Amino acid sequence: MKQIKKIAVLTSGGDSPGMNAAIRAVVRTGINEGFEMVGSLRGYHGLISGDIVPLHSRSVSNIIQRGGTILKSARCKAFYEKEGREKAHYKMQAMGIDALVVIGGDGTFTGARLFGKEYGVPIVGLPGTIDNDLYGTDYTIGYDTAINTVVEAVDKLRDTASSHDRLFIIEVMGRDAGYIALTSGIATGAEMILVPESPTYIDEMVYVLEKDWKKNKTSGIIIVSEGDDSGGALEVEKEINNRFPEFETRVSILGHIQRGGSPTAMDRVLASRLGNAAIMTLKDGVSGVMVGMVDNEIDLTSFEKSIKHHQQINLDLLDIARVLAI
Ligand code: F6P
Repeated sequence: MKQIKKIAVLTSGGDSPGMNAAIRAVVRTGINEGFEMVGSLRGYHGLISGDIVPLHSRSVSNIIQRGGTILKSARCKAFYEKEGREKAHYKMQAMGIDALVVIGGDGTFTGARLFGKEYGVPIVGLPGTIDNDLYGTDYTIGYDTAINTVVEAVDKLRDTASSHDRLFIIEVMGRDAGYIALTSGIATGAEMILVPESPTYIDEMVYVLEKDWKKNKTSGIIIVSEGDDSGGALEVEKEINNRFPEFETRVSILGHIQRGGSPTAMDRVLASRLGNAAIMTLKDGVSGVMVGMVDNEIDLTSFEKSIKHHQQINLDLLDIARVLAI
């Protein structure tokens, strides 16, 4: 492997709280280890267009507590094409960039894996997504903040649900993973949690609602993951209204509020540790891997593995949630 002198960091895909803390850790560790650090703006777009900014220790001051990403983020379609990656490689060479730290989800790692294989560029990835769906890390950067945002919102919705005797159907993000729904559902004492990893049977749902009604439950919360096979909160509401109109229903789709905000302490610490480890991994001559945290220890997983396997939710928790909501 060619000696690494200059490293570019980028954030790609959907942003997540804690990405700034990760950038800070990557940049400052990099400088401490003697590397020149730069940032690629808007993910892989910056590599293709040459939109690269120098990053010094002071460039990342006062960002550990900020949501979003100072480097901006994007899903770069051009990078999925060979031509786009070729341009990126050309620009990297022209600008003397030897290695990359990419922060994002599986789309980001898919591009990184191809790029690394085609051009031999040393690349290390950090798991930055609210979805917590990446294999090779117990938690992704941004997940803890997102679930706390959901919990805060659901607690508020519970207040008004209870005042008006209403059943709230709340849709949360997660793409095809149910982590956000499951964890926030347990933390808010939701009556029902619908996740993509477990089939949703409307008859079963109506049966539970009837039972709740008979037990004088006059309000409730159903958390629906956006990727659930029911089709989402609006579809669930339609089915409930058709089959069990006793409950007055309202839908709340939390949307992108889940992606913003100041990262929690957990996310800041995770991002700081992983950012530091990313640089040390490159320094050790290892690349083509995602740096994750497993059992509170740094763990490396090849991009191939982290893309291929998805982290699986613990379905037993759904049973616990049901018991606790009787
Ligand atoms: O992957 C993060 C995520 O927020 C998913 O939970 C969601 O499905 C998706 O991104 C939304 O993407 P966009 O910001 O492009 O609407």
